[in-house]
Amino acid sequence: MAQDVISFNHVRRNFGKVVALRDVSFKVARGEIVALLGPNGAGKSTAISLVLGLRAPSEGRVEVLGADSRAAITRASIGAMLQETSLPPGLKVSELLVFQQSLYPRPLSLGAAAERGRVADLLDLRVERLSGGQRRRVLFALALCGNPELLLLDEPTAGMDAESRALFWREMDELADSGRTILFTTHYLEEADRHARRVLLLQGGRLAADGTPEQLRRGTGQSTVRFSASTAWAEEVRALLPDCRVDVLGGAISVVTPDPETALRLLMARDVPLEGLEVTAGSLEAALLQLREGDGER
Ligand SMILES: Nc1ncnc2c1ncn2[C@@H]1O[C@H](COP(=O)(O)OP(=O)(O)O)[C@@H](O)[C@H]1O
Ligand SMILES: [Mg+2]
Repeated sequence: MAQDVISFNHVRRNFGKVVALRDVSFKVARGEIVALLGPNGAGKSTAISLVLGLRAPSEGRVEVLGADSRAAITRASIGAMLQETSLPPGLKVSELLVFQQSLYPRPLSLGAAAERGRVADLLDLRVERLSGGQRRRVLFALALCGNPELLLLDEPTAGMDAESRALFWREMDELADSGRTILFTTHYLEEADRHARRVLLLQGGRLAADGTPEQLRRGTGQSTVRFSASTAWAEEVRALLPDCRVDVLGGAISVVTPDPETALRLLMARDVPLEGLEVTAGSLEAALLQLREGDGER
């Protein structure tokens, strides 16, 4: 079934005078794993709350599995891990999981949910006794235990240690391989680069980019050639590479270029001293920074 799992059609969402999302349109197909990226306040959490039907768009339409998101949430299996979620005190983790299972038509067994969410050792603990990291694990197990076909994860790995993050992503990759649709936000760009097959970049409430991580890196991701040379060389470098951005900072000259090989060849032919030479390949981070700078210039 080639049905869109998520569809935003010219969506706007206001909070009073603040426009959290403006004219945002995109579709997510079944089985996609999509990273929603953007600086703080870009509108990521708002977008997730619209998918969940926790908020309604001010204009435009949000559809989930072909229905209005508020209708979809009641009949479809959607699992979510939100930024700020309180767990009801007094309950044991196992009781929470059992309650959560009861909300879904085809939940995982308690044992399977505990294993996949890595909370088997926490089942008898009361919620208020959990540490921060344990809470994140419980929230993840709660998101999984309905065996959902769509997972919405708002900064799921924030505050996790490196080992927990690695285990978390191993589980995510397996879920994605089994055809689940996943939309997640993160501030760790290497997570998006490694695990997402597509990146949506929000910027001031607008959709600024939509592509594979590689496309984003390739499309705007340039390389930086950096070396120590007296600032007197900067003019020469600018004249040699008129199409590149050349900056002088702390005794180093940096050149941003799509073609570092040619830039280096030109610099060496002119005997520009290249002490401490460093070439950094276009990273997702560089790509996003560039998009942001371009946005500011417009
Ligand atoms: N409940 C709310 N009331 C007022 N403003 C809000 C509310 N939720 C979000 N906003 C505003 O909407 C914008 C987008 O916020 P949010 O979606 O949380 O961004 P992100 O998750 O990308 O950091 C911000 O300017 C934020 O202050
Ligand atoms: Mg947020």
